[in-house]
Amino acid sequence: MSIVEKFATMEYGPAPEDPRPAQIWLDAHGRRFGHFINGHWQEPSAGRYFDSTDPSTGEKLASLAQGTSADVNAAVASARSALHSWQSLTPHARARYLYAMARQVQKHSRRLAVLETMDTGKPIRESRDIDIPLVARHFYYHAGWAQLLNEEFPGYTACGVVGQIIPWNFPLLMLAWKIAPALATGNTVVLKPAEFTPLTALAFAELCSEIGLPAGVVNIVTGDGSTGEALVKHPGVDKIAFTGSTEVGRAIRKTTAHSHKRLSLELGGKSPFIVFEDADLDSAVEGLVDGIWLNQGEVCCAGSRLLMQESIAEALLSRVRDRMSNLRVGDPLDKAIDIGAIIARVQLDRIQRLVDQGVAEGATCWQPALAMPSQGLYFLPTLLSNVHPTSVVVQEEIFGPVLTAMTFRTPREAVELANNTAYGLAASVWSESINVALHVAAQLKAGVVWVNSTNLFDASCGFGGYRESGYGREGGKEGLLEYLEPVWFKHAPALPSPIPGATRSAADSSDEHVEPEAPPIDRTVKLYIGGKQARPDSGYSMPVRSANGSVLGEAPLGNRKDIRNAVEAARKADSWAKTTAHNRGQILFYLAENFSQRRAEISNRLAAVVGGKQAASELDLGIQRIFSYAAWADKFEGAVHNPPFRNVTLAMHEPIGTIGIACPSGAPLLGFLSLVLPAIAVGNAVIAIPSEIYPLIAGDLYQVFETSDLPGGVINVVTGKHAELVKVLAEHDDVNAVWCFGNEELGASAKAFSVGNLKQVWTNEGRAVDWFDIKQGQGRWFLEHATQVKNIWVPYGE
Ligand code: NAI
Repeated sequence: MSIVEKFATMEYGPAPEDPRPAQIWLDAHGRRFGHFINGHWQEPSAGRYFDSTDPSTGEKLASLAQGTSADVNAAVASARSALHSWQSLTPHARARYLYAMARQVQKHSRRLAVLETMDTGKPIRESRDIDIPLVARHFYYHAGWAQLLNEEFPGYTACGVVGQIIPWNFPLLMLAWKIAPALATGNTVVLKPAEFTPLTALAFAELCSEIGLPAGVVNIVTGDGSTGEALVKHPGVDKIAFTGSTEVGRAIRKTTAHSHKRLSLELGGKSPFIVFEDADLDSAVEGLVDGIWLNQGEVCCAGSRLLMQESIAEALLSRVRDRMSNLRVGDPLDKAIDIGAIIARVQLDRIQRLVDQGVAEGATCWQPALAMPSQGLYFLPTLLSNVHPTSVVVQEEIFGPVLTAMTFRTPREAVELANNTAYGLAASVWSESINVALHVAAQLKAGVVWVNSTNLFDASCGFGGYRESGYGREGGKEGLLEYLEPVWFKHAPALPSPIPGATRSAADSSDEHVEPEAPPIDRTVKLYIGGKQARPDSGYSMPVRSANGSVLGEAPLGNRKDIRNAVEAARKADSWAKTTAHNRGQILFYLAENFSQRRAEISNRLAAVVGGKQAASELDLGIQRIFSYAAWADKFEGAVHNPPFRNVTLAMHEPIGTIGIACPSGAPLLGFLSLVLPAIAVGNAVIAIPSEIYPLIAGDLYQVFETSDLPGGVINVVTGKHAELVKVLAEHDDVNAVWCFGNEELGASAKAFSVGNLKQVWTNEGRAVDWFDIKQGQGRWFLEHATQVKNIWVPYGE
């Protein structure tokens, strides 16, 4: 058929992209690659290679070096030796390198797109129009941040040597998401691409050489999971950034628990695609094509759970089936193809297994009768209806072109179904009513919500998960913070262990210790749960002694049951997150007022343990600190981004939820306030374990809370042994984050026990924090840990 005839019939005809530029590049390397270490290609130390193949043909593309611990050692040493000179460059000089990377990616964009498609099986239309342009955009955007670093992040410094592990679904894009912010903030990098898709990372390594990037700033080590594991375990790595499966994310959390490595995890998802009855159904169906069939559904934020309002369900499904029947599956290098090849046999089998399991559980499976290629790894677009909220196909990430469909009646039910998953990566909401869409968006537990759109990404808008989808953000200002830390914290001395007593930098009281009027020996405080004083479940108390050893009173020995009660009370206090920031601020000001009224009394009691001077200082600074967070309550706001689309993105600061806080021993009152106040100022509810050396402070605290209009359950106080209670908090599935400010061992245990629901853990890494120093003890650093950013994309225009 001639082109003219085809133009008339609009019948499909192949439009193959020329693979030669990529083939020539592979040939130029002899189709064999070593690691890229210290600016050079290096043979693998054990001499072993593995193959990377084209999943659409099964053809071998190249041999790749299998990285060993020795290779990882060499790469980390190279990154370490490059660190100082990279950090000594001016921000402007680093900005120039990032700009050069952006330009170089653009100059070679076609070859990179073809190579990406050959290695992954994704349609060339996507790698050419989505992946590679976004890669360039990331380097441009971060060239800008490199330039502005000192102005915008005063007092922050780079983590150091960063280990980065990426998956196979968006190989070069994930590399850009990881390398651009790391370099912009002055880190050096060892990156391990996925074993199925290492080629564009190696092509990128070559681009780094071409722009004259100093040797050792970027190192690429190829290999499988064992290579990744060696990188995670390496003591010379300061931070690990991982994208991949939740299972491996958990393993990495466990492995890094007993180290000081920072960690960010971008894991799986099971994202809802919610269509209300007033939605523009045709647009929603097109959105769905992008939502679930982009990259064959091998997308962590794929809209894999269709939730339809009951009244339009049949009409929508019928349009979905029609549209599915028009999708074209086949050669990824064909520019007219919608769905390419599945990455590997193991993934294809996994998809089939999960679909079979869904059908066995009662799902109805519908697939269009599409022409399929005779060779290669392909899976038909699939619709599973008649599924239940607990079906395996509704709960598990399938990572393939498989959509499940369910109905709901009310917006409330839509939210309930949408949030009924362990994940929380993304969501898509379709409604012509902006009120409904934003109301629902606000309630979804997801790091990204697209209103009347889907799968939009931009370097300026952070991306990352809630709950078991991981923690940390990539992109946006918040993404840079993942690679930075306060200068003082990086150089903070280790906390002396065991803790000898108070931190008294601002109030050394040794020579003027004031023994208070003898306090009554039977002073017994209680736990404070749900706004009420409560006796401990154990029925036991522990004696609390003064600096000279005399018994000051008794504090309850809280246990697992008490923590459980406190968590339940905290969960019930969720109206605190919904109340206005103004209201929270007002209550905090009132709290400060009430502390101020009892200043002398509380200070007098505290003096028995920390000395008169420190006690006075803790009260005065404590009241100021409450004021500070009362002030921040309605000022720690999000941002509005302007990505290069016709939309705005609302970056909202949301509370994390329920936070368990182990307070420092040294400054019993000030330490407590310094951690609990920022958490509640932004809407979290907390379970606080007060200082182990002076838990009696709980009694003073709850008396003030009770008179300050603080709703019950917002702050719960459980006294007891930190080691025991932190374990319970870390293991509790309804606790969203644990902050642990104590000795090194306690922090490590919080990380190790938190793998279950992958909660965020923030510790002082065994370092001393001077709570009396305003620079260390209060401000944005605390608020940033108390919030997570949700990016809501809202389109505009007709
Ligand atoms: P994976 O999580 O095993 O692999 C991701 C990366 O981690 C690869 O570079 C791999 O070599 C590395 N890795 C594997 N084990 C490691 C370890 N113990 N320590 C350090 N690094 C390690 O993902 P995989 O096996 O490729 O896919 C399995 C499933 O994971 C998929 O079916 C999909 O459900 C999910 N997945 C999710 C992704 C996401 O972006 N959320 C991306 C890729 C896979």
